[in-house]
Amino acid sequence: GNDVCADIVWHQHKISKSQRASIKTQKPCLLWFTGLSGAGKSTIANAVEAQLFEWRRHTYLLDGDNVRYGLNKDLGFSDESRVENIRRIGEVAKLFVDSGMIVLSAFISPFREDRKIVRQMLEPGEFVEVHVSTPLNVCEQRDPKGLYKKARAGRIEKFTGVDSPYEPPVNPELTLNTDALSLSECVERVIGYLIAQQFIV
Ligand code: PPS
Repeated sequence: GNDVCADIVWHQHKISKSQRASIKTQKPCLLWFTGLSGAGKSTIANAVEAQLFEWRRHTYLLDGDNVRYGLNKDLGFSDESRVENIRRIGEVAKLFVDSGMIVLSAFISPFREDRKIVRQMLEPGEFVEVHVSTPLNVCEQRDPKGLYKKARAGRIEKFTGVDSPYEPPVNPELTLNTDALSLSECVERVIGYLIAQQFIV
């Protein structure tokens, strides 16, 4: 069925993912932070990355700044755009995981099905879903960018949690409610998981 790809041959590389990873003291994985705007996804992902960097683990953080301003600058916030946003991020994250890195991503990623598709793109255990479960009322109270206020005033359409859905994970590897946990407690839980699962030793 796919004519465009008919003449493209998938090259078997000489160096495998596990070989690339073997020069590092880590197993590659994707820490997928999902949650409402203002829940704390980026803050936690940045703090986890800083801790891993301090321990000289090789990481890469995918988030709004390097994705929605670059690769995905053609996408908005309709359901279709969000699906495509997450699909591309999943493909890019998979490449980084293949390179042997510990990858962190911080996107709302509101749809359960899209997160499942990314999980299935990776090998079993590699996709670590971290639900940043800070309740809507708390996110709205924080409103760090004033976007909830704008959305309630009808000046932004399809804002997640206001007039666009967020589907919480059913079985996330980790759940972090930043209303109940401090930043350092959140970081400890993520790092603890990486150690327990032997992604880092
Ligand atoms: S998604 O749903 O995963 O495609 O969204 P994401 O790429 O993470 O982008 C979310 C950030 O974009 C800003 N923003 C909006 N969010 C939700 N709904 C609407 N309509 C919207 N318009 C702009 C918002 O600042 C989000 O930032 P975070 O960091 O999540 O607070």
